[in-house]
Amino acid sequence: MFPLIQFFASMSGVLAIYFGGKMVINEEITFGQLVMFYSYIGMLVWPMMAIGWVVNVIQRGKASYQRLMEIMNSQSSVSEPESENENKEFKGHIKINNLKFKYPNSEKYALQNINVEIKPGEMVAFVGKIGSGKSTLPKLLLKFYAVEDNMIFIDGQDINKLHSKFIRDNISYVPQESFLFSMPIEDNISFAYPDRVEKAPEFARIANVHEDILELPEKYKTLVGERGVTLSGGQKQRVSIARALAKDAPFIILDDCLSAVDTETEEAIINNLRNNIINKTMIVISHRLKAVRNADKIYVFDDGKIIEQGNHNELLALEGAYYGMYMKQLIEEKLEEE
Ligand SMILES: Nc1ncnc2c1ncn2[C@@H]1O[C@H](COP(=O)(O)OP(=O)(O)OP(=O)(O)O)[C@@H](O)[C@H]1O
Ligand SMILES: [Mg+2]
Repeated sequence: MFPLIQFFASMSGVLAIYFGGKMVINEEITFGQLVMFYSYIGMLVWPMMAIGWVVNVIQRGKASYQRLMEIMNSQSSVSEPESENENKEFKGHIKINNLKFKYPNSEKYALQNINVEIKPGEMVAFVGKIGSGKSTLPKLLLKFYAVEDNMIFIDGQDINKLHSKFIRDNISYVPQESFLFSMPIEDNISFAYPDRVEKAPEFARIANVHEDILELPEKYKTLVGERGVTLSGGQKQRVSIARALAKDAPFIILDDCLSAVDTETEEAIINNLRNNIINKTMIVISHRLKAVRNADKIYVFDDGKIIEQGNHNELLALEGAYYGMYMKQLIEEKLEEE
């Protein structure tokens, strides 16, 4: 578009001089008239170019608007009740009955025959092989995907009758892939509640990342992300935990968010969390069985099903899949030490 406009603007000058020059030589117009005509063209060129430019901007705007509207008008697949259940109290009692679920774009069931009960104040752990469905369950609790009626109940209410805003306001969720915004660390921690920015170090301490932050060039004011310093995977994970704590919701879900720290630190953080946040309900997903052995109940996932459940000692006594995994991890740890 732009080269074309430029080309025609210049051509108008060339043509005016060529034909106008001829007319001056043939004494059809005076030289003064040619100069006048030529300068009028000069004055017209810029407004003409501006019109072309405006047309161009409008076209681009239209294309972007269409793309935006596609997102704005997309319907959520989960069913939402009319009201927001705002005044309801959230206790965090979760009951899952014979849940089965497959992702919208997939044929295979990601979860089948899932029966889970989580009582308020409990710490529950989900363990199991990769791809066994551990992360899928929290996503359903948070209403990221639609489930059928009568499968998930929160405080006795079917999840499809609860508003996603109500549920998400009351659950702190640390996803498996941590994400930090390109802003100072303290703002990353107090992201949901900017007025809690003063308390950022307190949350960072519980998440075991306070010392790491103090070593950064500008401490809590250090810019992270694309434009700032790059944190290690483990530091990022712990900052996201601090962010979840700043939200101060009665229910916390940690989805394998300590995979990048060593076992001792993971265990220390989880115990730290339990001691600091009394009365909160927690779901902890982890690859490391040792880190979650204090959980009130452990569910072992395999290929979308729960194959064993109970506390650490009960599961060991079964001498089944959990026992096998635990022994394997103990041996691995010993080998690493040597
Ligand atoms: N968005 C998605 N669309 C389709 N299938 C998915 C999607 N997310 C996960 N799955 C499938 O669902 C199954 C369970 O995945 P999930 O992420 O719950 O496993 P996981 O137990 O959390 O594994 P990991 O320990 O590696 O985190 C897998 O077979 C996976 O391929
Ligand atoms: Mg996962």
